[in-house]
Amino acid sequence: MENFTYYNPTKLHFGRDVVSDLGQSAVQYGRKALLIYGKGSIKENGIYDQVVQQLKNHDIDFIEYSGIKSNPVVDDVDAAVEKARAFKADMVIAVGGGSVVDSGKAMALTIPSELNAWDFYSKKAKPKQSLPLLTVLTLAATGTEMNPVAVLQNHETGQKLGLVNPLMYPAHSFLDPENTFTVNRKYTAYGIADLVAHSLEAYFGVGDASLSDKIVTSIIREAIDYGPPLLDNLKNYDLRAKIMYAATLALNGLTNNGRVSGDWGVHALGHEMSLLFDVPHGASLTIAYPAWLKFHKDRLNDRIAELGKELFDVDTADATIQELERFFNKIETPIRLSDIDLNNKSNKDELLNSMNKNQAQGIHHKLTDEDRAELLRLMAD
Ligand code: NZQ
Ligand code: ZN
Repeated sequence: MENFTYYNPTKLHFGRDVVSDLGQSAVQYGRKALLIYGKGSIKENGIYDQVVQQLKNHDIDFIEYSGIKSNPVVDDVDAAVEKARAFKADMVIAVGGGSVVDSGKAMALTIPSELNAWDFYSKKAKPKQSLPLLTVLTLAATGTEMNPVAVLQNHETGQKLGLVNPLMYPAHSFLDPENTFTVNRKYTAYGIADLVAHSLEAYFGVGDASLSDKIVTSIIREAIDYGPPLLDNLKNYDLRAKIMYAATLALNGLTNNGRVSGDWGVHALGHEMSLLFDVPHGASLTIAYPAWLKFHKDRLNDRIAELGKELFDVDTADATIQELERFFNKIETPIRLSDIDLNNKSNKDELLNSMNKNQAQGIHHKLTDEDRAELLRLMAD
């Protein structure tokens, strides 16, 4: 087992009506907030009204920046930063899914500096401070509510990159499973896929961490047991709660303890699909994971088979991959490029060029250009 330091400063408020504590938590950071959200789902389902009421109850003045895209872009971050600097915001409040929360993290980090957000992503500068960030999560998937990661796209440089910095842990995250009731079936399934993928990225990292492995398989079992019934009962509180908590635990650092790190090669491949074709994050992963496992099957044979034994009670690596594909089919996420109409020569060429240009690969399981060509073939087959 590797040495580790585990520290997670995010205060997690989980359960029914937790948003009613937002105002009193926020007011300790000041009286001026930048409130950000996406394309409007929070106005339709009433979460916006709840949040605004909280701010009014506690005399917190706020400005808004909305329209954050799924697969968020750095341009929105910089535009919001400009507004927040002029307003002299004391804090950022992000209400939405991973795209809004990640944008909020990048804003909170950039506002106190004199730089643009991408200066940090490109490693031109190191962040020194951050405004406090409070999040109201409306979609269970990414784990961003309790981790120090924010992923952004930059179409000028042709990159989708994650930045990891302890300054980006949210100060508070409010997770009411009921706030995810209106997430449609498709995005609910992508969220389930994402939490499974985060668990697998940890599992296929490096380091002998048997307890962390058991946490990984327990989290994936939650997805297998409660994901499919949730898709048929989108407004079931208990099923929403189970999946929401599983998604938080899948990427809040816990599964990494005792390892050198996770791998993150599948995410790197998936990010290229989102960057070029706006593929939803979870959908990119259910295409990339089966291919990645097939590609590494001989080298990681025992490890894959061990996973299959725990999750599906099967004995071989082949059967494990088959069962994982069957699970993705069951929750109706795509498993081949053809399922999202990308299985044609020009799209695949574009994808391969971008993957090679950005050197998409894992931290431990490195890939050459030839490997990526083979992986794309496996995603198409
Ligand atoms: O824009 P709005 O109107 O809010 O609609 C969103 C969006 O269309 C909608 N939605 C969210 N909550 C809803 C809702 N619709 C109805 N009711 C609700 N309660 O869902 C759509 C998708 O939202 P998005 O935030 O894009 O989804 P997700 O949470 O999956 O976030 C994806 C982003 O997170 C990054 C991904 O790469 C992607 O950019 N990730 C962030 C990670 C992190 N920070 O740790 C790790 C992940 O691996 C991932 O890379
Ligand atoms: Zn992910």
